[in-house]
Amino acid sequence: MNYHIVTYGCQMNVHESEKIAGILREKGYDTETPPEEADIIVFNTCCIRENAENHAFGNIGALKKLKKKRKDLIIAVGGCMAQEAGKAQLLREKFPFIDIVFGTHNLPRLGEFIDRKRAQKKAVVEVSEAREETEDHIAPVRTSYPNAWVNIMYGCNNFCTYCIVPYVRGRERSRRAEDILSEVRALVAEGYKEITLLGQNVNSYNNDGGGGMSFPELLDAVASVEGKFRVRFMTSHPKDFTEELAKVMAKHEKICRLLHLPVQSGSNRILSLMNRRYTREKYLSEIEMLRRYLPECEVTTDIIVGFPSETEEEFEETVRLVKEVKFASAFTFVYSRRTGTKAAEMPDQISEEVQKERIMRLVETVNAQTRELSAKYVGRTVEILCEDFDEKKGLYLGRDEFGRMGYFASDRNRIGEFVDLRIVRANGISLFGEEIKTQG
Ligand code: SAH
Ligand code: SF4
Ligand code: F3S
Repeated sequence: MNYHIVTYGCQMNVHESEKIAGILREKGYDTETPPEEADIIVFNTCCIRENAENHAFGNIGALKKLKKKRKDLIIAVGGCMAQEAGKAQLLREKFPFIDIVFGTHNLPRLGEFIDRKRAQKKAVVEVSEAREETEDHIAPVRTSYPNAWVNIMYGCNNFCTYCIVPYVRGRERSRRAEDILSEVRALVAEGYKEITLLGQNVNSYNNDGGGGMSFPELLDAVASVEGKFRVRFMTSHPKDFTEELAKVMAKHEKICRLLHLPVQSGSNRILSLMNRRYTREKYLSEIEMLRRYLPECEVTTDIIVGFPSETEEEFEETVRLVKEVKFASAFTFVYSRRTGTKAAEMPDQISEEVQKERIMRLVETVNAQTRELSAKYVGRTVEILCEDFDEKKGLYLGRDEFGRMGYFASDRNRIGEFVDLRIVRANGISLFGEEIKTQG
């Protein structure tokens, strides 16, 4: 039997889709195919911004015809949007042909829901308030070799006022360090070359006592596992970034010298309204501290523009901060009003027109910096981890430790290998290079 999974949202969801695939395999769906040939289609949704939801609604709606033709096809919708208050019902009303709706907390029981749906005509709707059981026992079907995602914690306690994640993912729960370490050891032994530790706020790992050690200690232990592989982690929260973490990053060559540290805004008034619990000054001093330990370290970030009541001057402060820090790259978002969050109720919501104009200016600033930084790579040698083959370009591609894409030609499959490239050309964030053949 065949399956098809559609994933929206963050890396957390990408990895969760690998777990969904694991559950589907156990239920006898052994081959991933395009939707037309699938016996089950699972949507793993996101609700971080309105457009993520619209996207999913559009794609689910488009399945109506297929479902009419193939009555035995099972359509399941899970993930953050399914968990959102009132959304399960809305989904059922809009698309009565959906067979299963399951919340983020119910993912570990998807197999059981499939059995139930096979036995009954009625749709199965399971959205719980809190996590029923852990998902640690599910063996994922990994799809991102040579990288492997590893959850270190679930949920978020921060309640940034714009953000829906704490409502749809529940409170922080840290996995036991021992379990994480044995997973990492097994992955490295299997040949994975990059381990990415995942959590909404990795710096608060073990605040619930569930881990058994702090995040810097865990990172140290992960990077001490023998073998040649890279370690990445995300996401860090500036309110909890510590010197201890910077020291661990500096101690291990395996840890990529890249920190993703979402700043969201350069204005202290907006940061306070966002409930981010740090100031512009604290953020800048953290970057300075990090660069003292790791002068080469690059920093990437997330920025929201057009948060309620953001003034032109406050937006300009964000642009200035971007220039000051010289981010290697930045994910920039237009603020999206999420029902149920505090910011949704704030006065002075910014018009779409102003938001669009601001984000264009910000993107220009960010792109100019990214290009400038990439241009500096021409003539340098970088080590990339080859992860794919680009059919259109006819080139292999991989990333350097800073996440920059490097392309090169090869006459044999290089996926999963570390390759030294001499960069001959830079184009935006992409680098083009020639392989340096090492002797012997
Ligand atoms: N836990 C991570 C990432 C959360 S979601 C963190 O705290 O950084 C990824 C990014 O989406 C956030 O960093 C933020 O920039 C953006 N985001 C979250 N809610 C948003 C909203 N309502 N509108 C626009 N962007 C949002
Ligand atoms: Fe959302 Fe803030 Fe939690 Fe990140 S830290 S997931 S932005 S509430
Ligand atoms: Fe991720 Fe979207 Fe959920 S960003 S945690 S999939 S709301």
